[in-house]
Formats: sequence, C-alpha cells, structure tokens
Amino acid sequence: MRDDKTAFGGCGFFGGFLRRVAVAAAVLAVCAPAGAEGVGRGALLSFSCAACHAPAAATGNGGIPSLEGRGAGFIAAALRDFQSGASESTVMGRIAKGYDDDEIDAIAAYLGRKAQ
Ligand code: HEC
Repeated sequence: MRDDKTAFGGCGFFGGFLRRVAVAAAVLAVCAPAGAEGVGRGALLSFSCAACHAPAAATGNGGIPSLEGRGAGFIAAALRDFQSGASESTVMGRIAKGYDDDEIDAIAAYLGRKAQ
C-alpha cells in the first residue's frame, strides 16, 4: 500500500517556513532605505557586519564591540587600519580587504548615520 504523504506530513513544515521567509522578505523590502544615492548600497554592504557586531543591547557575542553610536569617520578609519595591517586583528583585516575605498565610505556612511 502506498502512502502519498511526504516525510514532512504534507506542506506543514515547509509551508510554515516559506511563510516566514516571505514575511522576512517583506520586512526587508520595507526597511531598505531608498534615499540618497549610495545609502542603499551602504546598507547592503553592511548587512553582513551585524552577524558579528550585535546591537549594544545584545550580549553573548563573545565581546565583539558594537558598532552602534560610532561615527562614520571612526568606522572608515578603523576599516582602513585593519586593511593595511596598522591595527592588529583576528578577522577584521581579512574582512576589510574585501572592500575597496568607495565601499568602505558607503559602509561607514551607512553605519555611522545614527551617530551624526
Ligand atoms: C566574523 C565576524 C565579524 C564580521 C562579519 C565583521 N566584524 Fe568587525 N570585528 C570583529 C572582531 C572579532 C573585531 C575585533 C578585531 C579583530 O579581532 O578582528 C572587530 C572589530 C571591528 C571594528 C573596530 C571596533 C572597535 O571598537 O575598535 C570595526 C569598526 C568593525 N569591526 C567594523 C566592521 C564592519 C563595518 C563590518 C562589515 C563590513 C564588520 N566589522 C564585520 C568581527 C567581525
């Protein structure tokens, strides 16, 4: 006798998952800034930073400093120092080398926007 149900019991599991992905995509679409030129790009380039640099209020990320409240000038200078090796780092040197000058400026402008 054949059972046509999948191992996941129909679409229950995946249906719920897909719904959540759709909601997240909608939220991202609403939150993505569409203002001055360069801001959207800075936001896109900065999303990966949040994986390690949690907001100041969060704990448990192994002591990685929060980027909240840091000015654009600080962030740009820090990235360039990591890139050149002037600042010692475990991971930031490698990460900073992945961005060119324009991208560092776009990231710094986006992340530093709240500090101004
Ligand atoms: C894999 C985790 C990780 C990611 C992703 C990451 N960082 Fe970092 N960041 C660190 C760690 C760890 C340090 C401390 C220096 C070190 O050891 O590399 C740091 C330090 C910094 C500092 C210096 C902060 C201070 O107070 O001195 C800045 C600025 C910074 N990161 C910016 C960024 C930006 C901008 C991005 C995204 C483009 C980013 N980081 C992505 C882990 C990360």
